[in-house]
Amino acid sequence: MQNHTTASIAGKTISQTDRKEEIRDRKFHEHCPLADAYLRKAETGTPVRPEQHRLVMRWPMFDCIEELQAEHWEFGGSTLLPGLLLHGASGTGKTTSAYLAIRESLECWRSFHKGIPDVIAVRAVEMGRNISELSRTGGDEFQDFLTGMACTGLLFIDDLDKARFTPRVESEIFDLLEYREKQELAVVVTTNLKGRELEKMFSRHVGSAIVNRLRRMCVPIDFDHAGFDQAAALAAIQEKIRHDFLTEANANRAWHLGQADTASP
Ligand SMILES: Nc1ncnc2c1ncn2[C@@H]1O[C@H](COP(=O)(O)OP(=O)(O)OP(=O)(O)O)[C@@H](O)[C@H]1O
Ligand SMILES: [Mg+2]
Repeated sequence: MQNHTTASIAGKTISQTDRKEEIRDRKFHEHCPLADAYLRKAETGTPVRPEQHRLVMRWPMFDCIEELQAEHWEFGGSTLLPGLLLHGASGTGKTTSAYLAIRESLECWRSFHKGIPDVIAVRAVEMGRNISELSRTGGDEFQDFLTGMACTGLLFIDDLDKARFTPRVESEIFDLLEYREKQELAVVVTTNLKGRELEKMFSRHVGSAIVNRLRRMCVPIDFDHAGFDQAAALAAIQEKIRHDFLTEANANRAWHLGQADTASP
């Protein structure tokens, strides 16, 4: 749903839609410095896992637009949109699909009345290194780095399992996910490892807490299998959205809004 209002500046008619798109694109490239390289390479290549790629490109609505819209109006404009967890072997196209889907979806977030999300993309290796280095000096730079990732409208963490997880790094990542889940801010994550294997990358109690949060916040897409059944995967994702992002989210929000008068603490 684009707003094609026009403004006249110095005799020139400028489409506000064009200006907003320009700002959106500029910010996207500024905050996702590697996006250009992936998007350019994708222009000359073909998806390694076409079925998975097509499914990723349906994000974030996954054909659940009517249900999400209905909830959106019922609960006064606050609707949870699911994140993405793309897992699978190296070279299967996870990062490329993520960047293509994020770029494509920016307009649809706006049409969903959530504003255009500021996107920050970060490689987990770099995030871990920055946390380790900046935490030694502390101060504003460290806080700004963490706050940027915590508060951005959409956070893309590439290759989550590749960071060097010191106690400080894993505790900051836990904190980050915890905050974003509470604030209903989506994350997109790629990783070679999933489930128990991913848990084992962290210390015991932190690993399950992080993986559980990712499970709640994201819909998973498995890039490992060439014979991927897109229709079955889409049906499973829709089921998860209805269960985790509509039903439960509704109940929680109703409680916060004081509408769940039958519930007791
Ligand atoms: N949708 C796509 N369209 C065109 N090319 C693609 C697409 N997906 C992947 N490719 C190409 O396949 C190669 C591997 O993709 P990519 O780096 O995204 O894989 P990955 O799963 O993120 O790997 P890793 O786990 O090592 O990070 C790249 O050369 C990329 O350009
Ligand atoms: Mg990658």
